[in-house]
Amino acid sequence: MEEIKSYVAKNQQRFLDELFVLLRIPSVSADPKHAPDILKTADAVKEKLIAAGAEKVEIMSTGGNPIVYGEKIVDPKLPTILVYGHYDVQPADPIELWTSPPFEPVIKDGKIYARGACDDKGQMFMHVKAFELMMKTGTLACNIKFMIEGEEEVGSSNLGPFIRKHKDKLKADVILISDTSIIANDVPSITVGLRGLTYVEVEVTGPNIDLHSGVYGGAVANPINVLCKMIASMHDENNHITIPGFYDKVVELSKEERTEMDKAPFDLNTYKKNLEIGDVRGEKGYNTRERTSIRPTLDVNGIWGGYTGEGAKTVLPSKAFAKISMRLVPNQVSEEITVMFQKYFESIAPASVKVVVRPHHGGSPVVVPTDTISYKAASKAMEQSFGKKPIPAREGGSIPIVALFEEVLGLKSILMGFGLDSDAIHSPNEHYGVFNYLKGIETIPLFYKYFAEYSKK
Ligand code: BES
Ligand code: MN
Ligand code: MN
Repeated sequence: MEEIKSYVAKNQQRFLDELFVLLRIPSVSADPKHAPDILKTADAVKEKLIAAGAEKVEIMSTGGNPIVYGEKIVDPKLPTILVYGHYDVQPADPIELWTSPPFEPVIKDGKIYARGACDDKGQMFMHVKAFELMMKTGTLACNIKFMIEGEEEVGSSNLGPFIRKHKDKLKADVILISDTSIIANDVPSITVGLRGLTYVEVEVTGPNIDLHSGVYGGAVANPINVLCKMIASMHDENNHITIPGFYDKVVELSKEERTEMDKAPFDLNTYKKNLEIGDVRGEKGYNTRERTSIRPTLDVNGIWGGYTGEGAKTVLPSKAFAKISMRLVPNQVSEEITVMFQKYFESIAPASVKVVVRPHHGGSPVVVPTDTISYKAASKAMEQSFGKKPIPAREGGSIPIVALFEEVLGLKSILMGFGLDSDAIHSPNEHYGVFNYLKGIETIPLFYKYFAEYSKK
């Protein structure tokens, strides 16, 4: 531990500088305009892996953005850890709300501000630096394989085929991922659940062209009005989702499990204050933490149509659109939920409009068992670096590929993230604590140490 601490202390400025180089490249996977930046970032990750001591480092092409692979096999008899992360980021919009430019990282109040600072360049790069540390100090106790992808933020659609094709190359004992959060810097936690996802786009068409809202208004259905009503009707007065069959496969937690969950500290007033909201809202019968982890949701992510430019234009639009996501919990099946949504959406559409539902990506929910040596190793590592035993906690976000890793590679993942819910990932002014970044670099080598140790027994 002392050796780790002193290596991190000596190199922390360089660790930050190197991360900043990655953060300066706008590797936005959602926008084709950034394709060259995606390649540039993959290349930079490759160079960093080589410099840290990885072998067989290569940029592997897929049907989409490339995957960076690298490995260090110390001894085939030792256990192997497969590190997964992503180098792509979300778009920076709305750009005008950033207090400093999203791709010009700066440190303010001990936090690194930049798109991707936490999700996931900062967290992914902790693994590269921890690997360097283990190489330099001669303490690498497990074999290591890196698989860093560039399409996580757009659904990882090429990663499934990739892992199927490279099953042998990716053979390992466990997958290690830092792309999640801890409860607080003084309340370490390990993520033991992620929600699944179903994402759809809907289109509602009224008249065949935009009409004068005075000449036709009142007699012809306005697709925006209709869409809003349809969306509103998808929750009842208790904020339950009204799609028939939606909850059929939802696993209810036992009283004991919910009591256990409640032991993690949470302050509703601080939560409301931080978000500047007068009150929370959600499904009746569940508290805020449950609503964001063990319960499914339906949310509109964007809605548009008609006139949204300067001033006023009197128009009855022909079309309205919305992007809708549903977060899923065990044992809901993404494809089944998509079909239920589609059928229901079509069934509630009045005859005055036509509707189309276009499915986007999806993913399965995940539960990580705590009775494995990998969980115990993560717990011990965090306990040592934070000075406090971590709490197992389920989270609301999704990393759809985790379920596929289990299905295709037969491997469990350890979700040992170091972010905070308040890091504004996907939002303006995303940031990542310097404390968290360095704490991650300190903790990861301990995971290797304990995983190797526990594997022997
Ligand atoms: N790192 C996040 C997921 C996450 C964040 C999990 C915080 C737990 C806590 C990941 O990059 C992400 O944003 N995933 C997407 C899903 C994807 C299919 C676009 C998400 O959750 O919206
Ligand atoms: Mn992420
Ligand atoms: Mn993300």
